[in-house]
Amino acid sequence: MARAEWGSRLGFILAAAGSAVGLGAIWKFPYVAAQNGGGAFLVIFLVIVCTLGISLMIAEMSVGASTRRSPVGAYRRLGGKWWSGVGYIGVLCGFLILSFYSVVGGWTIAYIVKSIDGSILTSNPAFLSTTFDSFIADPVLPLWYHAAFMGLTAAVVLAGVQKGIEQVSKYLMVMLFLLVLVLIVRGLTLPGAIDGVLTFLQPDFSKVTPVMVIEAMGLAFFSMSLGMGCMITYGSYASDETYIPNSAGSVIGLTTIICFLSGLMVFPAIFVFGFDPSAGPGLTFITMPAVFSQMSGGQFFGILFFFLLFVAALTSSVSLMEVVVSFFIDEFHLPRTAMTVVMSILMFVLGIGASLSLGVWKDYTLFGKNLFGILDYVSSNLIMPFGGIMVAILVGWKSWPVIADRLTRADGTQPVWLPLLKGFCRYIAPVLIFVILIQNL
Ligand code: PHE
Repeated sequence: MARAEWGSRLGFILAAAGSAVGLGAIWKFPYVAAQNGGGAFLVIFLVIVCTLGISLMIAEMSVGASTRRSPVGAYRRLGGKWWSGVGYIGVLCGFLILSFYSVVGGWTIAYIVKSIDGSILTSNPAFLSTTFDSFIADPVLPLWYHAAFMGLTAAVVLAGVQKGIEQVSKYLMVMLFLLVLVLIVRGLTLPGAIDGVLTFLQPDFSKVTPVMVIEAMGLAFFSMSLGMGCMITYGSYASDETYIPNSAGSVIGLTTIICFLSGLMVFPAIFVFGFDPSAGPGLTFITMPAVFSQMSGGQFFGILFFFLLFVAALTSSVSLMEVVVSFFIDEFHLPRTAMTVVMSILMFVLGIGASLSLGVWKDYTLFGKNLFGILDYVSSNLIMPFGGIMVAILVGWKSWPVIADRLTRADGTQPVWLPLLKGFCRYIAPVLIFVILIQNL
């Protein structure tokens, strides 16, 4: 059977952007940026995205597009037997991420419900924080939502590559973008908003620490879906006519814009209503209802926001599950349906632990982190950067001719920056990531 392909070039970009833009940009970016003090963190994040992010995005997509294989097969084809191990680690990483991602995805569904029943339509920071904290600490309720989110993810994956992913991504992302703009305008016109804007945008480089740098790097990998083979998988479905650098640039650009806008959306609200900037994973969930409460039709906007956030999360979780499931299909010729069901159940079970670690199991910690924090840290700050080093080495040293060929335009010309990409992948990217990792160990 011929390998599935995206219906159109735009379909490919949108689906890859659908994978990238998700909870990373809208849930994780604002709270990690706020925990790290804003300004300087934003600058570091942007520098990393514009250097490592774009190069690795081109590298990963080209690896997929030139081999037409999912990560394990792609690494094996280009690097040889041992390299397939990097693909295995990527699959494992997808597994770990989706297990806690689905928990947060479940929160978005819960917040749709809370918006519908109107219980969170208030600007009282203490009430909103307590509501969130007691919800995630509940031993039962979040698990139902987690199950619902995982189930929906599995359903989309079972519908197949094109129908499932491409259709969902197209229109709703545009709506999300527009809604975020509306919310930014509302937030910025509230008294005191300027403090939030300044905190978000004004860098104070005297506060930069190694921890901040690794957090920014991990966040970049996570929110761009890099370093674990997801973009290899997506690239493998690209048609021969697809010019990878354009697609990679669009995906990076879009995701970065959404990260930036999410910051502009959340930071002012923190200061206007007096939330704690270091609130952590709840930040988007607790601050946004306060903004809705100050809008006419606030309930409608609340429902719409959490619904679109849910959809954004779903298009990302689908890509994570696709990495895991297509591994078993491509490597072991196992049936798609069975593997989707089995993997969903296993990830659901691990996610139960992640969810409980925010409540009844919160005292079980390792290096001061609960299971939720460990899954997040290990995947974003360790495995994905490691994957980044490996893909850079593969592209820069082992398989450059194949990659350069794939990056050559149909008319035979090569982009002027091609040698730059080679040099960056050969030397700068591996060393840079390695140094940032070492600083933190
Ligand atoms: N980038 C996704 C998000 O920001 C998460 C993700 C990571 C998806 C890795 C796929 C692979 O929500």
